[in-house]
Amino acid sequence: MPRPEWANWNGTEMPLSEVRVSVLDRAYLFGDGVYEVFRVYNGRMFLDRPHFARLRDSLRELRIETDVDRIERRTRETLAHSGVLEGQVYLQVSRGEAPRGHAFPNPPVTPNELIYVREYDTDPYASSREQGIRALLVPDLRWKRCDIKSLNLLGNVLASQAAAEAGCGEAIMAAADGAITEGSHSTVFGVRAGALITAPLDSNILPGITRQLVLELARRCNLQIVEQPFTTDSILSLDEVFVTSTIAEVLPVIQIEGHTWRASGPGPITRRLQVAYRDYVTQTCWG
Ligand code: PDD
Repeated sequence: MPRPEWANWNGTEMPLSEVRVSVLDRAYLFGDGVYEVFRVYNGRMFLDRPHFARLRDSLRELRIETDVDRIERRTRETLAHSGVLEGQVYLQVSRGEAPRGHAFPNPPVTPNELIYVREYDTDPYASSREQGIRALLVPDLRWKRCDIKSLNLLGNVLASQAAAEAGCGEAIMAAADGAITEGSHSTVFGVRAGALITAPLDSNILPGITRQLVLELARRCNLQIVEQPFTTDSILSLDEVFVTSTIAEVLPVIQIEGHTWRASGPGPITRRLQVAYRDYVTQTCWG
């Protein structure tokens, strides 16, 4: 059994089950806040710098003012005190509590900052990474600033639920013009003739931290990289498809809507990237 989640609520550490928050918190009323998810390997936060840099970007875009250096210190302390070696850290900053009104509270209120550490007894994606997942294509119903890691996740939630109901491991979202944007909680990659293809960074997708690392690892493997959108039609003619995220790492997609690439397991390039990813984790978190 994993130990209960250990939290830090506005600077005070306690079990997550003891954290209490007002119903007037703007995260509750409007989804007015941002978040990050870190993977913890061997007690260390993997790729912590780019995650904190993205947190700064999200806070700046939403004009939520807080001290990210302090959040960073608190996150490290909370992780250390939790004693967790394998797991994840969830970090959320809301604009704070105020009587309900759409515009920002004036004068500003103090942001509410939650950090908690969840322990894994087993890696939640270990078997999917070996076997691969089926994916569902769904329309991307989200707003126009998906580059911000905001708490507004209703489009992602509905897409993910549609996938779950279809017995799929992920929903791949497409814009009205058929261009694939991203997964409900992952970045989408394809392989064509040995080259790696993924959508370019713009306001339609989250700048995935795993995306960035996988592109770097692909460069080291001398793979050609094409940052270009692909469509719901062209995805089926790709040689391999996989999705990436902090928690899933590099996850093979074996079937989309009746089109089957393989009965089970990653394609050859996906496998190479999985191995390179694991080597990188070992070097940085055990080195
Ligand atoms: N989600 N795109 C979306 C919409 C996501 O929610 C995520 C991650 C990603 C991948 O980003 P990264 O490689 O930085 O994890 C892409 C997190 C894990 C979540 O919501 O739980």
